[in-house]
Amino acid sequence: MVDQKSPAGTRGAAGPGGAPALRQRLTRRKPIERLVAETRDSEGSGLQRHMGFWQLSMIGIGATLGTGIFVVLGEAVPVAGPAVIVSFVLAGITALFSALAYAEMAGMIPASGSAYSYSYATIGEFMAWVCGWCLMLTYGVSVAAVGVGWGEYINELLQLTTGLSLPGAVLSGPLEGGVINLPAAVVVLLSMFALLAGVRESSRVNAVMVAVKVAILVMFVAIAITAVQDGNFAPFMPMGMAGVSAAGATLFFSYIGFDSVSTASEEAKNPQRDLPRAIMFAMILVTALYCLVAFAAVGALDWTGFVDGETSLAGILTAVTGTPVWAVIFAAGAVLALASVVLVVLYSQTRILYAMSRDGLIPKAFSTLDAKGTPRANTLITSVLIAVLAALVPLGPLADATAIGTLFAFALVNVAVLVLRRSRPDLPRAFRVPGAPVTPVLGVLACAYLMFSMSMSVWVAFLVWLAVGVAIYFAYSMRRSALETDPEVSEVRS
Ligand code: ALA
Repeated sequence: MVDQKSPAGTRGAAGPGGAPALRQRLTRRKPIERLVAETRDSEGSGLQRHMGFWQLSMIGIGATLGTGIFVVLGEAVPVAGPAVIVSFVLAGITALFSALAYAEMAGMIPASGSAYSYSYATIGEFMAWVCGWCLMLTYGVSVAAVGVGWGEYINELLQLTTGLSLPGAVLSGPLEGGVINLPAAVVVLLSMFALLAGVRESSRVNAVMVAVKVAILVMFVAIAITAVQDGNFAPFMPMGMAGVSAAGATLFFSYIGFDSVSTASEEAKNPQRDLPRAIMFAMILVTALYCLVAFAAVGALDWTGFVDGETSLAGILTAVTGTPVWAVIFAAGAVLALASVVLVVLYSQTRILYAMSRDGLIPKAFSTLDAKGTPRANTLITSVLIAVLAALVPLGPLADATAIGTLFAFALVNVAVLVLRRSRPDLPRAFRVPGAPVTPVLGVLACAYLMFSMSMSVWVAFLVWLAVGVAIYFAYSMRRSALETDPEVSEVRS
């Protein structure tokens, strides 16, 4: 049993009736040594360790390159104009700060709960819960968003090849006028079956799909760049900085996913060495590709030609070449590619729920493994709920909810780096954020800047989500926490 107190930590007094006082419960921390010990235990009894640097990098790239660049780019151009390239850079810098923080945390605390686990070890249980709750937007809701993007490309492919498209089922009753997005739900359920078949197969499939999407994006750049005209970049910033920031906030969605690498840490062969390297590699590759694709897209097609949400990269290829051939290849690749994102992000969501369940904050069913080491009930319940969401909600609100929740969680990871640098300078770090403490502080500010660039309706939805999470914490999680039933292992702040 580990009980490692930080220099600032003291064991607090019990409240009335022997239960810990509220303040102690909210700030109790899970000792890092325990997180690491649980990870080691999982070598023998839980998730299997089989992933090296390349597989981890593929998880990061697989989760990141997706609907953001394939579909959301088309929605962002009317908001920012050609300066959408700057929006990508703005979102990329914000993501890069957080990637650095993730790399330090993942190399130090190789636990599958990602930002949730980092917060639990540093800021305390309540903020860890809030973080885990926000990560359900990062992962769960983004799976739904990517599923909707997949539905758009499968229809594009069908239209290009057969002239038909998959009709949605029209709703009646209170949702009258809405449409059930069947393709979006189907891709989520297909990914569920892939995950239930085992992680090994899934990560191999993922690697092939990563190759496909990098190849088609490079193909897009190679073709579109031949049609780039200087005139398309003037005026460069027609909507001013406000447009650039608003588009940056939306496009932040396209960078989400590199953190998936850290959720696979309990399945990594050498997490201390490979996690930071894989995260940084994935970020650099993705950022370079995004900037190239954005440059080629707005250079080839005047920004006023982008109709809100309806101009896809495949459409640009047809406009540039005058033949649908390249668009068909591109759309076919995108259908495969976006399915891979659904697969990887769904995987990450199940692993975070696994970690939260093991800590007692959500029901035990989420951490029960089958004979193959797969969290079966977790995967089934999570996938079905996400499939319903994907079927009912359009892409825009899903992408925005994902972005705001993620920005909040990423800000917390930067805070966790700052806290641990002070409270546990002794811990070995496979990677250190350069320029700390300035860099993590800039990371928090960058996340806050993009959050405050989002619309009021997104904020209202986010605050409602937070309120529901807080209510669940006080009604259930706080009392069921493993640190409540086994308080010997917690650290309590003075
Ligand atoms: N970054 C992921 C995507 O763009 C969520 O699809």
